[in-house]
Amino acid sequence: MAALRSCGAFCLHLFFLHFVSSESQSVFRGESFRRKLSVELNPGWPGPPSPGGDLMHVRAVGLNDTLHFLFCSQGAPTLLLVHTNSSSSTVEVDWPQFLMRNVSGSLRVEPESSILQSNAIVFSRLLEYDDVNDTAKATSDLFPPYDLQDFTWAPLNLSGASALLCGAAATFDNGSLCLKLTVFDSEGRDQMLPRLLHSANSSQLEVWLDGLVPRASRSRFLLELQAVGGAYPLSRVEVHRSIDDEFTPTIFKVLQWLPALNRTSHGSVFLQWKPVSYRRSPPSVEEGSPTRSSLPRPQRGEEALSALITAFYAEPETFGINVSFGISGEPFYGRSRFLSWTVLLGVGTPPMDSFSPMVLIMMAVGLGTPMMLLVLGGVCICVRKRASASNYEPIN
Ligand SMILES: *[C@@H]1O[C@H](CO)[C@@H](O)[C@H](O)[C@H]1NC(C)=O
Ligand SMILES: *[C@@H]1O[C@H](CO)[C@@H](O)[C@H](O)[C@H]1NC(C)=O
Ligand SMILES: *[C@@H]1O[C@H](CO)[C@@H](O)[C@H](O)[C@H]1NC(C)=O
Ligand SMILES: *[C@@H]1O[C@H](CO)[C@@H](O)[C@H](O)[C@H]1NC(C)=O
Ligand SMILES: *[C@@H]1O[C@H](CO)[C@@H](O)[C@H](O)[C@H]1NC(C)=O
Ligand SMILES: *[C@@H]1O[C@H](CO)[C@@H](O)[C@H](O)[C@H]1NC(C)=O
Ligand SMILES: *[C@@H]1O[C@H](CO)[C@@H](O)[C@H](O)[C@H]1NC(C)=O
Ligand SMILES: *[C@@H]1O[C@H](CO)[C@@H](O)[C@H](O)[C@H]1NC(C)=O
Ligand SMILES: *[C@@H]1O[C@H](CO)[C@@H](O)[C@H](O)[C@H]1NC(C)=O
Repeated sequence: MAALRSCGAFCLHLFFLHFVSSESQSVFRGESFRRKLSVELNPGWPGPPSPGGDLMHVRAVGLNDTLHFLFCSQGAPTLLLVHTNSSSSTVEVDWPQFLMRNVSGSLRVEPESSILQSNAIVFSRLLEYDDVNDTAKATSDLFPPYDLQDFTWAPLNLSGASALLCGAAATFDNGSLCLKLTVFDSEGRDQMLPRLLHSANSSQLEVWLDGLVPRASRSRFLLELQAVGGAYPLSRVEVHRSIDDEFTPTIFKVLQWLPALNRTSHGSVFLQWKPVSYRRSPPSVEEGSPTRSSLPRPQRGEEALSALITAFYAEPETFGINVSFGISGEPFYGRSRFLSWTVLLGVGTPPMDSFSPMVLIMMAVGLGTPMMLLVLGGVCICVRKRASASNYEPIN
């Protein structure tokens, strides 16, 4: 009986250890799916710089498919993701028409029949309000918004498959708004908080507002985003809760902006984020500040904000949300004059944190050790009893 029990405990231990090691191997061996990335600035434009803003194109080629990431600063900053079922699809830009910003079809992905899906995120407006009563609710005390389409954007600063875009409004006293796009060729996790997990089918955008002089001492900010799609616009936000917050301490949620219906086998486009922003750079847990987001609302006419949207979509469907930074009781923007927030735009299954090898080891040790002790205790007692029983044997 004792032998059976001790075997049970050992098996449990072995099972955990085995599970842990196979899990960590699959995580650390890095033999996961990889895409081949290539980067082009202003594809087909005869010689830089292009007037009015840049267009970056990252091709991420898989076995049988391609993800085209297009990042553009003509008008409001926009990231367009086009998924095709061919590894040889291309992007064609008719520059004279593209620059006129009034002709749909001036940017095409060829062959058109290979397009599985597409969605874009437009960063449309930065809103500031005077939070006199520290309620963190943007109601009546809104200042005139900053329209990102009217910003002066510096040329894209490329490095590998990432791009840095910084700009400022004419009315900014100081400071700038920056967006950093990174396209990934394989799965991994960002080094910086909120340490989002990514796959080979996703890109990460970090947005930050640095050094802007606020218009009130108790200013807080909102960022308005538009999700533009053709047939499948992103129209609902899903909230996932997790009990494991090892990588983003104190944040137990992940939000996902998705199309209304589940798509077929190739999955749909998603925008994913954790509801946290940071008040300092580099981000730290202490300087984390919750974000809240409004429900997606159908929009009209917002597409015109972005040259890329006008050029690619004939009949765009748009939903907008507001993301607000900070909650009641948190320091106001003016204290650090810095704000950063990170999102993931990708296709397929959104990356989701599972219990990490570390947590699994802790669970195995935590559950296994008491059991081992119990069983060892049982074995000892049995052995002692046997030993004492054997003492009487000669009398028998
Ligand atoms: C790629 O396509 C070929 C033929 O169309 C098919 O046989 C193969 O299974 C596909 N590979 C993947 C990974 O989908
Ligand atoms: C686009 O704008 C240009 C001038 O800005 C104009 O000449 C042209 O007719 C316009 N095209 C369309 C389709 O509206
Ligand atoms: C996938 O590619 C084939 C050509 O290889 C095309 O005929 C088909 O329509 C494409 N499928 C979709 C869903 O676009
Ligand atoms: C702030 O609080 C005061 C007093 O409670 C109230 O009169 C005022 O309307 C509030 N302001 C805002 C913007 O809510
Ligand atoms: C481009 O980015 C790199 C690193 O992010 C930075 O060192 C460099 O100064 C930037 N160049 C320009 C022109 O802003
Ligand atoms: C604007 O930024 C510069 C450099 O970051 C800083 O020295 C200056 O004090 C700022 N101006 C205001 C009005 O905050
Ligand atoms: C969508 O798919 C997920 C998992 O793939 C499933 O849990 C969910 O019920 C589906 N929703 C609808 C509306 O089909
Ligand atoms: C964001 O908030 C502003 C101010 O309250 C409002 O005018 C705008 O319509 C909101 N946008 C969305 C997409 O809800
Ligand atoms: C990424 O895309 C490839 C090719 O479509 C697919 O095989 C893989 O499962 C996807 N990965 C995720 C995490 O969605």
